[in-house]
Amino acid sequence: MEKVRVKWQLKALLPVVLVLLGGLLLFTAATVSYRNTERNTILMLAGAGAIAICAVSLVVLAYLIQRPMVELQEKVALISEGDLNVAVSFSERNDEIGDLGRNFNHMMQQLRESRKEIETMHRTQMSRAEHLATLGELATGLAHEIRNPLAGIAGVIEIIGRDLPATSPACGMVKDVRLEINQINRILTDLLETARPHPPMMMRSNLNTTVEHAVMLARQQVLSKPIKIELHQAPQLPEVEHDSDQIHQVILNLLLNAVQAIDGDGTVRVEISSRGDCATIVVSDTGKGIPEQQLQQIFRPFFTTKGNGTGLGLSLARRIVEEHHGRIHVKSVVGKGTQFEVLLPFNAPVAHGESS
Ligand SMILES: Nc1ncnc2c1ncn2[C@@H]1O[C@H](COP(=O)(O)OP(=O)(O)OP(=O)(O)O)[C@@H](O)[C@H]1O
Ligand SMILES: [Mg+2]
Repeated sequence: MEKVRVKWQLKALLPVVLVLLGGLLLFTAATVSYRNTERNTILMLAGAGAIAICAVSLVVLAYLIQRPMVELQEKVALISEGDLNVAVSFSERNDEIGDLGRNFNHMMQQLRESRKEIETMHRTQMSRAEHLATLGELATGLAHEIRNPLAGIAGVIEIIGRDLPATSPACGMVKDVRLEINQINRILTDLLETARPHPPMMMRSNLNTTVEHAVMLARQQVLSKPIKIELHQAPQLPEVEHDSDQIHQVILNLLLNAVQAIDGDGTVRVEISSRGDCATIVVSDTGKGIPEQQLQQIFRPFFTTKGNGTGLGLSLARRIVEEHHGRIHVKSVVGKGTQFEVLLPFNAPVAHGESS
């Protein structure tokens, strides 16, 4: 039910009017014994006094309260139209209404400053975004340009390696060059995939095989290090709908992070299993761990604590896993190690570009 609107002047004056009427009634009762002419004069004077009191109260109230209220209302209307350059004039008064005016003007001042700050921030972010977009284009262009000659170099190295006698000391160097080429290729792939992501090509296949390929590649990277990479497969695992290239990339990124976190000797353990309607891949290491305050940031693009890292590995891994309708979790204890868990549903709810 709508509330009845009563003017504030009426509310303020009603009690005064009632008191004055009561007074008049008292006067009438008290003057019954007087002569009529005297009585009329007294009552007329009392009535005129009552009216004068009402009028003066009304004028005083209008001056003290109504004027600032009307001004405040006008200024609020201006603010709602987006104009923040408003201030009320009654802030000079030395009473509570003046306090209200001063608080209002102070609030407006703060609002103007916040708006200015937001505008500046927005402008810098926009120009940063433009810069990043340009940089992204430049980087992907470069990545493409580097890939072709790199493939050529990889081919030549392969041939040289094959022609070298097994006892030649150059064999080790050829192997190192091959590893470096793989590393550059991985960075380029991450960069291209981040800049121009493509939806996963879902196919029902054996997740054990996908993970095994990534483990084999990572093992090549640790041949000369005292690091062991254990793989525990799940032979009974039903086929999982996934893009094997992309999941391969995810596991490889997790494995390389694990390997890079180990200083000296250590173990990386990869375990595939199933939980409910998901297949799980757990990659755990005995490395240095991740400090609590960094755990929130490690999935952000370009977050890295490594001198030569791009910081794209985990952000890409998470994006790929989420596009598979899966999840990725991390647990870490500084000084003990880190564990990443990837959950992939056996059947993706929505199939992107399925080609089964
Ligand atoms: N297993 C791990 N142990 C310790 N720290 C880790 C581990 N995995 C990730 N991190 C931390 O998370 C950061 C981000 O990892 P991410 O893979 O995204 O980038 P990066 O490894 O630094 O660079 P890139 O993968 O592009 O070469 C790392 O720099 C590292 O500090
Ligand atoms: Mg990484």
